[in-house]
Amino acid sequence: MRALELFKNAFGFCFVKLLNIQPIPEGFFPYLHASPGRDNWGNQGVLRHDLPFFKAEVDFLPKSLDALVLTSDLQGVVVEADQRRLLGEALPEFLAMFLRLEMKLNPEKVGIVLAGDFFATLESRGGLDDVRPVWRTFRRYFRWVTGVGGNHDDFGVDLDALPAFRREPGIFYLKNEEVALDGLRIGGISGVAGDNGKHMRIPEDQFAAMLKRRIDRRPDLLLLHQNPFHHSTPHKGGQFVTAALQKAPAQLLVCGHAIWEQALIQMENAAQVLNVGERVVILVKQTTS
Ligand SMILES: [Fe+2]
Repeated sequence: MRALELFKNAFGFCFVKLLNIQPIPEGFFPYLHASPGRDNWGNQGVLRHDLPFFKAEVDFLPKSLDALVLTSDLQGVVVEADQRRLLGEALPEFLAMFLRLEMKLNPEKVGIVLAGDFFATLESRGGLDDVRPVWRTFRRYFRWVTGVGGNHDDFGVDLDALPAFRREPGIFYLKNEEVALDGLRIGGISGVAGDNGKHMRIPEDQFAAMLKRRIDRRPDLLLLHQNPFHHSTPHKGGQFVTAALQKAPAQLLVCGHAIWEQALIQMENAAQVLNVGERVVILVKQTTS
């Protein structure tokens, strides 16, 4: 394992590879979310759900990191003492405690990777608003936070709000760029494909060109909110992402947006897609016996 680490550090273009992934039975976090549709009187229903935690082993993580935590599509609310908070604001304190007590991991050595869509209300599905409090709360408990914006995420209404947010310590927002954190190169593109002019939409041909440039740099981890195509969610598109991955052997893509029952997809060319929508995935380096 030491030789692999030296090799990856020396050549600097290898990818993180997932070796396995499994649910953590005692790892979950309850929240509320708006139900699909309304009742006969037009009232919005509210459902309770448990956000599941998964553990995944990878072949390589920098020595300075105990783990990476990846998540997206936390479109729920937590109500405590009549106070409502976004699920993504309520989760980090519990998650830090869980990692420390149950997994013996130091949150100060855990990086957070957010794949978009962290706004929700209980009055309706969807919505769009400021998710900076979610990112900042993760940052308060962990080493650093990087991520991409989803189509339900806003980062402040003022023109200088996002640039100012990007200057905050420990916050690494990826619009269409790459960042190196603890030696790990993460390339990301915010938004989803679409030409309807809505928030965070990028025409598909432009998105495909941006994606090619990101993949050509061969990041350790490629991060999108947009998912590749999957037969269970054909309405979410993503064929152009699948096509790009087919030309990128062994590339790891982390995405959200479409919610899949299956977290990990292995492609024929050894590219991997980890969909972290409505789940928390804790990546740790494979333990050697
Ligand atoms: Fe989305």
